[in-house]
Amino acid sequence: MNAQRITTLGQFIIERQAEFPYSKGQLSRLLRDIGIASKIVNREVNKAGLVNILGDTGETNIQGETVKKLDLFANEQFKAALKAGGECCVFASEEDDEITTIEGAVSADAKYAVLMDPLDGSSNIDVNVSVGTIFSIYRRVSQEGPGLLSDCLQKGMHQVAAGYVVYGSSTMLVYTTGHGVNGFTLDPSIGEFCLSHPDMRIPEQGFIYSVNEGNYIHFPQGIKQYIKYCQAYDETTSRPYNSRYIGSMVADFHRNLLKGGVFIYPATGKAPKGKLRLGYECNPMAFIVEQAGGKASDGKNRILELESTDLHQRTPVVLGSRRMVEKVESFLREFPDPGSF
Ligand code: AHG
Ligand code: MN
Ligand code: MN
Repeated sequence: MNAQRITTLGQFIIERQAEFPYSKGQLSRLLRDIGIASKIVNREVNKAGLVNILGDTGETNIQGETVKKLDLFANEQFKAALKAGGECCVFASEEDDEITTIEGAVSADAKYAVLMDPLDGSSNIDVNVSVGTIFSIYRRVSQEGPGLLSDCLQKGMHQVAAGYVVYGSSTMLVYTTGHGVNGFTLDPSIGEFCLSHPDMRIPEQGFIYSVNEGNYIHFPQGIKQYIKYCQAYDETTSRPYNSRYIGSMVADFHRNLLKGGVFIYPATGKAPKGKLRLGYECNPMAFIVEQAGGKASDGKNRILELESTDLHQRTPVVLGSRRMVEKVESFLREFPDPGSF
């Protein structure tokens, strides 16, 4: 029998450990802990239809959104894994108003701050559509002891690792430590993430645009014009492009990373800063897309250079294939809106 060589996530992390700037194994362990917790979340996502875990908790989170049970479950799983791991000194999440300082487990090795969207696209769970987890990791800037808010409010360019898990028709974990992007597919028969997409690169130019066109009336002029551009017929640029929008950022991003495309969540009249959060949605995806050769912008500025002043701060976002993002930026310059962007 031909034994196929499989590289598991655990093996891969250890093999690549030397690439980390302060390699003592802590970041490797942190990544491994997130991988293990995501397998538990995956199990619950997959049986969501079978148990009483669907639906709302009746609570709303700090952004005034309805909290689903599985959001909370995922939040607790990741938080517990990071507390037990001993590498993380502070944890911030979409589901928690404030940071969680990890006091009990603080050791000399607790050098990392972790920001997470534990369950992204959770309104899609009860209709059997892909959801995800997003994570962002910084090296702490505070000294010893429990981490501080300032550890979580660093610019995205200082991330040491970022990744996502997409719970889809198969479950994948994709991450970067600043040396390219690698993707792992969960093999449920052995319960391991196995390297399936080494050194992922996003095409410079794609043919997919992803935006909630239902909000068109509220969009800035530049975005409206860009959408018209995508829909126009032009043989030399293979237009019209395809429109694809799931409503789960992780799933929309993942498709565009593999196939090429642009994901846009712009500022709108109703939400002048957009909807998506800088710390645990936009920065990690921006880090990944840049590492894959793409680009991420707020329409004008590089996402990774934005100042982070608030844990739950929002930003407009345009990310994906480099030339498509640049095209959106050029439309926003050409058709400026007073007061936006
Ligand atoms: P979350 O479930 O973590 O609150 O995120 C939902 C986000 C994101 O996944 C998606 O891209 C976006 O909301 C969709 O928003 P619209 O329904 O406004 O298009
Ligand atoms: Mn989200
Ligand atoms: Mn979420």
